[in-house]
Amino acid sequence: MKKWLLFLSLLALPLGLAQVRTFEQIQRAGEIRIGTEGAFPPFNYFDAKNQLTGFEIDLGNALAKKLGLKATWITQAFDTLLIQLNQGRFDFVIASHGITEERAKAVDFTNPHYCTGGVIVAKRGGPKTAKDLQGKVVGVQLGTTYMEAAQKIPGVKGVRTYQKDPDALQDLLAGRLDAWITDRFVAKEAIKERKLEGTLQLGELVFQEKVAMAVAKGNKSVLEALNRALADLMKDGTYAQVSKKWFGEDVRCR
Ligand code: ARG
Repeated sequence: MKKWLLFLSLLALPLGLAQVRTFEQIQRAGEIRIGTEGAFPPFNYFDAKNQLTGFEIDLGNALAKKLGLKATWITQAFDTLLIQLNQGRFDFVIASHGITEERAKAVDFTNPHYCTGGVIVAKRGGPKTAKDLQGKVVGVQLGTTYMEAAQKIPGVKGVRTYQKDPDALQDLLAGRLDAWITDRFVAKEAIKERKLEGTLQLGELVFQEKVAMAVAKGNKSVLEALNRALADLMKDGTYAQVSKKWFGEDVRCR
């Protein structure tokens, strides 16, 4: 590295500026930085003891282990994750991003780590189908595929966006929303965890999606390492075990 370049990167350190790292650079450092949100149970969230946990945390840790690396987790607001990824703040992101054309212009996606769909959640007797949402107010997390989907449903009266997904659930329970669109596993878990079986109902799936990890645009070496490690975990039983633990079923795409 040229001297002035070294100087510049040293200057950048205290500013928190980082560079996108290749897999070789990561291996030399011995630790991989993983970005996630931490407010999307049961995928990535902070538990009662304020520990970062969830299916994606277990999976991320297993991937790091497979790659012989120490995992360092960094949590950020969901709608800033992909931007910070391209700035080199983390080496990859695992935060339940559905693969979309729009996002694929900005980042590169790994093979999917699960398949799922967006579901309509309402109070019992409330809207169940996209058609039922005519004239209704729907809550979604900002920057998600649920937001896009909600905005496309004809006749919806309003789409309210929330920084965090559980805040939409709060507003649904408080009667400020007619429906909440979220991940079907998130909805199931929220109902079970908060004992809302008598209060809420699950409606139809509005769309299905493949969820994947993301690396900075063009970061081929990290992309390939993650795909290799994920395939290994899917073969050696680790993935199945982690999936069973969180969902009681195997959520891989088939
Ligand atoms: N699957 C949805 C999407 O792709 C939601 C992801 C939300 N993730 C999160 N960590 N809050 O937009």
